[in-house]
Amino acid sequence: MNYQIKNPPDMETSLAKIKIILKREIGLDASTIGEATINKILNERMRSCNISELDEYYIYLSNNRQELPLLLETSVIPETWFFRDDKPFKLILEKISRQLLTYSKTPCRILCIPCSTGEEPYSISMFLHSNGMPETAFEIQAVDISHNSIGIARQGVYSKNSFRGIKAKEYINDYFTLSGSEYFLNEKIKSSIEFNRVNILDASALPFENKFDFILCRNLLIYFDIPTKEVAYKNMDNMLNDDGVLFIGHSEFGSVPEHIFTTTKLDSVFCLTKNKNPINKKEIGKKPCKNKKNKHSILKLMKPPEKKAFSDSERYKKNTPEPKANIIQKTSSDKKSAKNLLKQARTLADQGKLGQAESLCHEYIDKSGDHEDSFFLLGLINEASGNNTQAHNFYKKSLYLNPKHYETLIHLALIVEKEGDIETAKRLKERAERALKQ
Ligand SMILES: C[S@@+](CC[C@H](N)C(=O)[O-])C[C@H]1O[C@@H](n2cnc3c(N)ncnc32)[C@H](O)[C@@H]1O
Repeated sequence: MNYQIKNPPDMETSLAKIKIILKREIGLDASTIGEATINKILNERMRSCNISELDEYYIYLSNNRQELPLLLETSVIPETWFFRDDKPFKLILEKISRQLLTYSKTPCRILCIPCSTGEEPYSISMFLHSNGMPETAFEIQAVDISHNSIGIARQGVYSKNSFRGIKAKEYINDYFTLSGSEYFLNEKIKSSIEFNRVNILDASALPFENKFDFILCRNLLIYFDIPTKEVAYKNMDNMLNDDGVLFIGHSEFGSVPEHIFTTTKLDSVFCLTKNKNPINKKEIGKKPCKNKKNKHSILKLMKPPEKKAFSDSERYKKNTPEPKANIIQKTSSDKKSAKNLLKQARTLADQGKLGQAESLCHEYIDKSGDHEDSFFLLGLINEASGNNTQAHNFYKKSLYLNPKHYETLIHLALIVEKEGDIETAKRLKERAERALKQ
């Protein structure tokens, strides 16, 4: 039987209430996964409960305690694979090697949050073991909200699907035993990780006592709205050592709260370090750290803005109004103050003040005539406000001016994916990968 979620008046209310529950329980902002996915999740649960109407399902959910965890399990996206992105691993290895050279007895502490079915923490462990690191030199903890995923992670038995990356295949012979179609992880690697079920938003349940040198929180923050992200960042700040490093996913640098973390590039890996000067950081427009080279805001994650001659904007002019003539001849102080506008816009956006950020972006466009970065930021702002159509348009404009704009490619891919255009999303992601390599 195919249960359709229809739209009688009450239905929207039930749907809205269920979305609120999802946000409250696991932080999921339903708009990030799109209506089609939400409908699929609800259809699946309704089918299991033999219920055909959403209103009825909502009542069932409210009256049956056992249903909520099942709904939450169905709503999480456990997509992961071995060596999905191993760029941070070398940095971790280097830190451990340095510690060994100083005969330090303190193990390097690493947290994977979320770890899903375990591929990410196990990849780190295999990498460190294969590079000769003694077991006593590091401790890896891994947590996730999903009981199912933690159960799978503890078993350490995987299918071919978990080895889709090229790197992963190099580790199969040394660390897995194939039996039938299943790959059994070797005991030494299995026992190197401690798995626990934890909600990243629940400060009371998180392991705060012994802080971590590295936290990997990749491919989770994209499902949160800005206030929820801020809670997650605060919790991670509390779990991270003062000189610790936080790794987030490529497409998650969009709304890092600057009063908590600073975006940094270490050995060509973008990551976050604690903002050691939070008071200054709150003051809009002030430089957050002395070492300018070390400071990479969302905008700096992109290709350094090229100073465009007016004629470079020809392609953009085809579908947008011509910029005002007086913006072309700019003195260096004009340019500096225009640049400050964009910086302030980004700070405001990171603080969730989206309306003010948007106005400053437009002011920046008027004053500087530099559109590439401002279009990207306008895209981010609209995306954060849930206005995906506008975000889509701004990202397209940004790409029009710079077809290799990595962050724009990733964000546009996520939006078209939500719109159901999987093929275009795939092509955009491939372009992003190529742009990153270049
Ligand atoms: C896409 S996976 C990412 C796994 C891995 N970090 C990676 O990048 O491959 C997202 C995971 O986040 C988990 N998750 C969702 N909400 C969570 C929350 N509030 N606290 C902890 N984990 C959560 C899900 O259960 C899912 O396993």
